[in-house]
Amino acid sequence: MVVDTLRATTTMAAMLANQAESVLPIAELDEARRLKEEMADILLAGERNNRPPVGFDGGNSPLEYPVERVAGRRILLTTTNGTHAIERCRQSGTLCAGALVNASAVAQWLATVGGDAVIVLAGQEGELALEDWLAGGAIVERAGGFHRSDAAEASRLAYCACRDNLLAALKDCQHGRELWQQGMQSDLIFASREDSLPVVPVRSCQTGGDQGRGRAWFRRA
Ligand code: MLT
Repeated sequence: MVVDTLRATTTMAAMLANQAESVLPIAELDEARRLKEEMADILLAGERNNRPPVGFDGGNSPLEYPVERVAGRRILLTTTNGTHAIERCRQSGTLCAGALVNASAVAQWLATVGGDAVIVLAGQEGELALEDWLAGGAIVERAGGFHRSDAAEASRLAYCACRDNLLAALKDCQHGRELWQQGMQSDLIFASREDSLPVVPVRSCQTGGDQGRGRAWFRRA
């Protein structure tokens, strides 16, 4: 599981909750632009420096993708850290996207999948991001039946210490402060709402005659 609660995995959950057909996370900007040329009907979404890159249909805000915009659509998403973290997990058998907004849904889904679970925190430019630590802890808190590593337990304890005011905690994180100062307060409020989206984005390889063949599309579990 990959967690990038500010904002990539929150946005993926929002897109799929709003009935997008699928989301294809792409690490590199050039690759995303190239695929958009191949798949004209696709929505091109994402950010660099928190803003939509030139020529994109939208940014990385979960609020930009309401049902009337995304229902039935395929979406390409490229972000600074989150989609790179997903790309680094390309060898993993089953992969899902977790965030505060879908923590309970992810925990329930894990129970149905069985086996060990690894939580990969996207972080920020190779460093730990507190918001991901807390979101990972929220999922650990809800997921029963696992032997917890010390890191998993530490993140759970951190989450429990601030679960009564997650918005304040997100505002205190480095990336949260940045988004807040850049006017994206509503994204933080959205991302802080635990269990507001009962959906789990899960990777499945799409086959068939389209140009995205074999790529790692995420769909609702
Ligand atoms: C990322 O992938 O680095 C983030 O989702 C950045 C953002 O807040 O858009």
